[in-house]
Amino acid sequence: MAKKSVEVQVLDSDFSLFLRESITYEIKMESRSKSKLRSFVMICIFLALSGIIYFGYFCSEQVCALTTQKPTWTDWTLKFPIQDNLGKPLSIHSNPINSKATNPGLSYDDVLNDNFQFDMNAHDVMVFLHIQKTGGTSFGRHLVQDLDLQRPCSCHRKRKRCYCFRPNRNENWLFSRYSTGWKCGLHADWTELTSCVDSELDKNEGDSVKRRYFYMTLLREPISRYLSEFRHVQRGATWRNSRHWCGGRAASGAELPACYQGATWQGVTLDQFAACPHNLAANRQTRMMADLALVGCYNTSYMQPAERNRVMLASAKRNLASMAFFALTEHQKVGQYVFEETFNLRFAVPFEQHNATYSSLTLSTLRPDQVQTIRKLNALDLELYYFALKLMNRRFEKLKARDPHFAERFSHLGELPGRGASEFNWDQFVEDTTLSAKNT
Ligand SMILES: *[C@@H]1O[C@H](CO)[C@@H](O)[C@H](O)[C@H]1NC(C)=O
Ligand SMILES: *[C@@H]1O[C@H](CO)[C@@H](O)[C@H](O)[C@H]1NC(C)=O
Repeated sequence: MAKKSVEVQVLDSDFSLFLRESITYEIKMESRSKSKLRSFVMICIFLALSGIIYFGYFCSEQVCALTTQKPTWTDWTLKFPIQDNLGKPLSIHSNPINSKATNPGLSYDDVLNDNFQFDMNAHDVMVFLHIQKTGGTSFGRHLVQDLDLQRPCSCHRKRKRCYCFRPNRNENWLFSRYSTGWKCGLHADWTELTSCVDSELDKNEGDSVKRRYFYMTLLREPISRYLSEFRHVQRGATWRNSRHWCGGRAASGAELPACYQGATWQGVTLDQFAACPHNLAANRQTRMMADLALVGCYNTSYMQPAERNRVMLASAKRNLASMAFFALTEHQKVGQYVFEETFNLRFAVPFEQHNATYSSLTLSTLRPDQVQTIRKLNALDLELYYFALKLMNRRFEKLKARDPHFAERFSHLGELPGRGASEFNWDQFVEDTTLSAKNT
């Protein structure tokens, strides 16, 4: 695959300061050395043939998963003088490389290039990073049910699973809960997905495939999202099976102490919810969008809190700006339009702007000090969201400007000739999230 050198747009000072540390993004996604990988697999096969059956067993679980990452880093150190290895996070003060970093990954600008398209027949894969309570469930359903495809996903309602295969062969083009399942962990974050998606797909399709990944996510206004997560937990949902994988291992119990005793936190009050210092709801979006290896993963003594926050936020912004697509829960129509234009695909239904997404009702019932506390707890998310809003508008304006039929298109989103638009039932999916969050 031809790698384009794209200069990263500098959007604010923190972001630009941070660029050189953020190259782990490209390292993980793009520059994997297949030949070294292949020779490693050959060794694996050789050992297996030698009758060491147990090695083969462990290899698939642990050894291979870690070792296959190594060529990635060595490959990169040839070009950039980075000394770090996998599992050893890059520090903010690590060896400076040219701060004018080039970006060999697929940036948004790449995706919009005229000679470039998401190619379902080739090896392109969409990866949906689903952050809790952002409306990701309904978006995930749109992806598997409502895209107008040459070969639509074939869905099995009882199993809550769809096969989203390429037109010409049975290979996934979509990595998401409803297609592949939570293969990289329940609500896997950026850190988990980028270290896992490729090897998961390798398991099914063989490792000789060089894929291009198109990450996408939804962000939501942080206070509404936090309150929505609170109500969800209050009803008894947990995400206790999330792995919080980072730096080659899952976060330990000491790093992520539970906020409650027993199976759930059912009945928790908002004040209790906000008072738990380990509650992952606070700044969830920033944390899930950031490369946590840069901040020592879940080890909070690795860095001063202020530094940790600064790096995490800068990394989250950077990763968001590098995503092929993102949308805001509060702007469904814009999200639909941007998706369709970016990928040159069409949805057969209009995305609904449900009023519940604002959760203004709950907000108005809070005491002023509660609102203050929640804002403070989500300060990073608020800044990330503001950044996302600006970026979203810019992408939207750019697409609008090059679309001669914008007004017509925008007023008829989701109306495809020959396909009756079925109404989308948001409530059904809210319910569905509740159940699966408890059970998975
Ligand atoms: C966390 O980081 C500190 C400082 O770098 C280190 O001394 C400590 O061993 C780390 N803890 C774990 C569990 O890795
Ligand atoms: C959503 O809110 C708007 C304005 O607040 C209102 O006009 C509309 O009827 C509401 N829609 C639903 C489905 O409740």
